[in-house]
Amino acid sequence: SKGGYPHYMLKEIFEQPRALYETLIGLIEDPALEEAAELLVNARRVFVTGAGTSYHATLVFKHYITGMAGIVPIDFIASEHPEYMAAVSHEDVLIAVSQSGETTDTLQAVREAKKRGVKIIAVTNVIGSTLSRLADVTLYTRAGPEIGVAATKTFLTQVLTLQLLAARVACKLGVIDKSDFESIVEKLSSAREAARSAERLNPHIKALAVILSKAQSMFVLGRLLGAHLAREAALKIKEISYVHAEAYPAGESKHGPIALVEEGFPVIFVGTPGVEKKLYSNMEEMKARGAKVIVVGVDSYEDAPADYKVLVGSYDETLAPYAIMPPLQLLAYHMAVMLGYDPDKPRNLAKTVTVE
Ligand code: M6R
Repeated sequence: SKGGYPHYMLKEIFEQPRALYETLIGLIEDPALEEAAELLVNARRVFVTGAGTSYHATLVFKHYITGMAGIVPIDFIASEHPEYMAAVSHEDVLIAVSQSGETTDTLQAVREAKKRGVKIIAVTNVIGSTLSRLADVTLYTRAGPEIGVAATKTFLTQVLTLQLLAARVACKLGVIDKSDFESIVEKLSSAREAARSAERLNPHIKALAVILSKAQSMFVLGRLLGAHLAREAALKIKEISYVHAEAYPAGESKHGPIALVEEGFPVIFVGTPGVEKKLYSNMEEMKARGAKVIVVGVDSYEDAPADYKVLVGSYDETLAPYAIMPPLQLLAYHMAVMLGYDPDKPRNLAKTVTVE
């Protein structure tokens, strides 16, 4: 049931605090976390794959595990797996991320990798799914059923799962010690509070949706972690509001895409901590061309040279995704509703894509 909400998507966006908390509690008690970390520290190389939103979760994972453990995983979009198969061997590990555990593209990548002896770690929301049956180790997200076609709560629970895995790997490698690991777990228990940003900012986001739903096209820009979140935000906007939104790493925008910018062209900046100065200069570049500049970011973006600011609270890199993503999901939701579309059932899309 929609529990009193007009759409599942809205309900699921607001369920994120609880989904994150349950995922964390479930994982810290699950021996699979240690087993997965063990596979990773012994791997020659680590590959990560997924489709759509789940692929975006792998990019966020790449960001964290590189910084925390010094391991740079090789990410690929599941349907592009043939390009990578010549490079994999039985000494490698593939992390496959899929909320449903039934996406054909992801299952095919896994089957091909398995044929070559690669060990598989699954991250999925569905117990007993095909992916979990193919995997050597499965980490379950405990988001609860997600009915809306747009992935929302499953995304952030994937991010949390992968972040915890990265920390566990860093601990096993001795890059951080046990007490550092515990403080990361402790900190992740605040992901719940961070994700309440959606409730708090809802009126603000609705007002922003009024402006953006009139646009034909927009950019969503960020740097580093923010670049990955930008891709996810752009996918949400396209998928349910049918407004064209294109994500780029902010620095890359001046290598071509900026040519599209004219008076009133909306550019959303995803404000993650640590890249304020550089994003400010990207904002200035956009403004100089007449763009309407919007920032959805942590409180350190207070002085951003933007026309519209949505400040989600004061969070560091570990917690920033949990505070920043819900308002962006909500933005896509309100745009879709204002434009008269059903956000739960976007055209041309199935919840789980079981064709190639
Ligand atoms: O079930 P999966 O996580 O494997 O699904 C992958 C994609 O089809 C899915 O994330 C899709 O991109 C969503 N509709 C995005 O909101």
